[in-house]
Amino acid sequence: MQILKTIESLQSALGGAANGTLGFVPTMGNLHAGHLSLVARARADHDLVVVSIFVNPLQFGANEDLDAYPRTLDADSAALIDAGCDVLFLPSAEELYGDDMLQSTRVQVPELGADYCGASRPGHFDGVTTVVAKLFNIVQPDAAYFGLKDYQQFSIIRKMVSDLAMPVALHGVDTVREASGLALSSRNGYLTPEQKSLAPLLYQTIKSIGEAIAAGEQDFKRLTQAGKQQLQEAGFQLDYLAIANAASLRTATKEDSHLVILVAAYLGSTRLIDNLRIFI
Ligand code: PAF
Repeated sequence: MQILKTIESLQSALGGAANGTLGFVPTMGNLHAGHLSLVARARADHDLVVVSIFVNPLQFGANEDLDAYPRTLDADSAALIDAGCDVLFLPSAEELYGDDMLQSTRVQVPELGADYCGASRPGHFDGVTTVVAKLFNIVQPDAAYFGLKDYQQFSIIRKMVSDLAMPVALHGVDTVREASGLALSSRNGYLTPEQKSLAPLLYQTIKSIGEAIAAGEQDFKRLTQAGKQQLQEAGFQLDYLAIANAASLRTATKEDSHLVILVAAYLGSTRLIDNLRIFI
C-alpha cells in the first residue's frame, strides 16, 4: 500500500496506474469493521482502491473537540493493508484547504441538511459536502462507498452528486453491528462499561418501532413519543427520534412507503446515532 500525503503525489500515482476502475472510501480514520466493510466492497468491485484518512476541521463545530478526535494511524494502516487497500491518501489540513480555509468555497445541500443532525450540529454537513466534493475532484473515483449508519450524511452526499452531476457512482453500505445490535462507531470507544451495556437499547427501540409499523401501526406520533420516553427513562438524553420519508427526510405520513427511523441520543457526553429503513 502506498501512503501519499500531497494532491500532486496522489494524482501522479493514480495517473500512472494501469487502466481500470477506481473505488474510493473517504474516512476520518480510527477504522473499525464498519469502515473495513466499505473497503471490502470497493476491493470486490474495482481494480484500484483508494482510502483517505482526513480529520476534517470544517465539519467540527466550535463546541466539538477536533483535537480529541482519535488518531490511530498505525492500526489504521495495518488494517488497510490487510483489507487490500492500494493507496492511502493522508493529506494535512493545509494541503487540502491552504491557509485561507475560513474564506474558501463551501458546498451546501440545504434541503436535506436542515433537520436532525443538521439542526444539532450547525455547519457540520456543509463541512462534509465541501470535503467530499474536494476529495472526489482530487481522486476522481468511478465509485465511492459510505456507511448507511450516517443515513442523513449519505442522503446529502447523494443529492450533491446528483445536483452537481458528479461522475461518481455512490454506494451506501449497511451498518455493521455488534452482536448486541449496537452500531459500530468510533464513538463507542468513549462509552463507560455501564453506558456500553445500555447503548444497544438505541437500536432495540427503533427496531421495535419498525416492527410496529410493519405490523400495521400508523400512529407515528405515538410511536415516536413512546420510543423517546423509553430511551429517556433508561438514561439517554434524546437529541431526536423521528420517522421520516427515506428520500425527502420529511416527517413521514401514512402515504409514504419507504421510511427511515432516525435517532440520535447522548449517553453521558457521547452522542450516538442510528437508523432503520423500512418498506411498508
Ligand atoms: O463519515 C465520515 O467519516 C466523514 O464525514 C467523511 C465522509 C469521511 C467526510 O469527512
